[in-house]
Amino acid sequence: MSLINTDDLVNNLADLRVNGPVGVIGPKAREVFALLAQKWNPHRESAAQCTYEQIEDLTSLEGKKRYYDLLILLPGVLDRVHQVEERYQKIVTLAQTLRPDGQIVLMVVDLGNLGLMERRWDDGVEIIEQITKPVTVDWIGGVRHHSDPGEKTAILTRSEILLSFTAAGLMVKEEPLRRKNTDPSVGLQRFVACFGLYSQYSSGQLYDALLGLSEEYKAFVLSYISPDMQVLELASGSGRFSIHLLEKGAQVTGIEIDTGMLNQARIKLSHWLKKGQLELIHGDIRRFDLKRQFDFAFLSGEALNQISEVEDRYLAFQSISTHLKPGARLLIVTDNPGWYLQMGYRRTRTRSRQLPDGNLLKMTEERTYDPIGMHQMTAEQYFVSSKQTCFQLINPIQTGIILPNEIRLQAHLTGFRLVEQYGNYQREELLPSSPRAIYILEKS
Ligand SMILES: C[S@@+](CC[C@H](N)C(=O)[O-])C[C@H]1O[C@@H](n2cnc3c(N)ncnc32)[C@H](O)[C@@H]1O
Repeated sequence: MSLINTDDLVNNLADLRVNGPVGVIGPKAREVFALLAQKWNPHRESAAQCTYEQIEDLTSLEGKKRYYDLLILLPGVLDRVHQVEERYQKIVTLAQTLRPDGQIVLMVVDLGNLGLMERRWDDGVEIIEQITKPVTVDWIGGVRHHSDPGEKTAILTRSEILLSFTAAGLMVKEEPLRRKNTDPSVGLQRFVACFGLYSQYSSGQLYDALLGLSEEYKAFVLSYISPDMQVLELASGSGRFSIHLLEKGAQVTGIEIDTGMLNQARIKLSHWLKKGQLELIHGDIRRFDLKRQFDFAFLSGEALNQISEVEDRYLAFQSISTHLKPGARLLIVTDNPGWYLQMGYRRTRTRSRQLPDGNLLKMTEERTYDPIGMHQMTAEQYFVSSKQTCFQLINPIQTGIILPNEIRLQAHLTGFRLVEQYGNYQREELLPSSPRAIYILEKS
């Protein structure tokens, strides 16, 4: 800790928003908190605070469920825990103390500096005395051996941090750091973790809350389904559609890549799973081998666009084709790219919905289109109003733009024939202005 410039540390924490109890954990926690309290708001020194100097103090957090708005872990906390599994367990404990809209900020020593600790800086003042026995780094053992005999600290790698937070149900992002001081103090890295799409509101729950299913859509799809049909539902998601296929009497096999979506489907459709009428498989529709053939396949809800590269869609068409009996049909429902390509290259859409727990969810989606690369980029933000929580997907999602000619060619190359093509569920012609693009392919 003494090698770390406290100014750098405090400056890189000063921008955090504080709406409730704060916990600062680590060596010099009290001092850091006092400096931060002045920066955040000089009149808020009385803000509920807790400081813990020792990692052992973390056990006392166990009673504080859902308490903290902000937990700051200073360098010198997690790296004092020598076993990687134990470090993960500490993060799980910390996550339980966090409010649903709170965040954990982890400051760690930038690993790039590990071999260079020759000069000591303390609060911006250089200590002339040089470290005589430099720190040695054991990358395989995952530890740094310090100058005091027997003293060692763990190397916290980026991959360990990202994996531990994710497995603890938190969304984590790395943030750039400002360095006011140009002097060579030890570098720092900052990770910010909060509950996000994959935990409190898993992607499946959000998806279900945001998307309904119109009666026309349902009637259209079910017109192709007869009882006892063996249906392959590709990218089956949260099971939004599966339930209607099951109610019609079909035997359904769903394949889905996202575990959040799959879990939501498993919970919602547990009755059908127990009954043996439904099978849900965690898999990738670009490459799968179920070693049997189906009577009908269904690919809906822009799932095909989510396979953003045309070559990967080709793999998907090949895999799907091998799983269909001759004469079986593949129904594809996607957005119609015609109107947005023709009308302009940007769109913003906002949707508000009531979540099952009573919160109001507002989702803003901004899309831009690249007709050269045939990609669309989507940036999404989710606000849960009553909790003032904002989930932001860190990187815009890239999906593919799929035109009718590509479907014709994919069909031609993979043993299908394009037999029907519509622009809406009333089976009207597909035009640039149509709301949907619907394709029915027949296996030769
Ligand atoms: C917009 S959702 C549609 C879900 C469902 N078909 C519906 O209409 O409600 C798209 C789904 O495709 C899934 N997906 C994307 N790429 C996939 C892949 N390569 N293999 C399996 N599922 C995939 C996503 O995880 C997501 O659940």
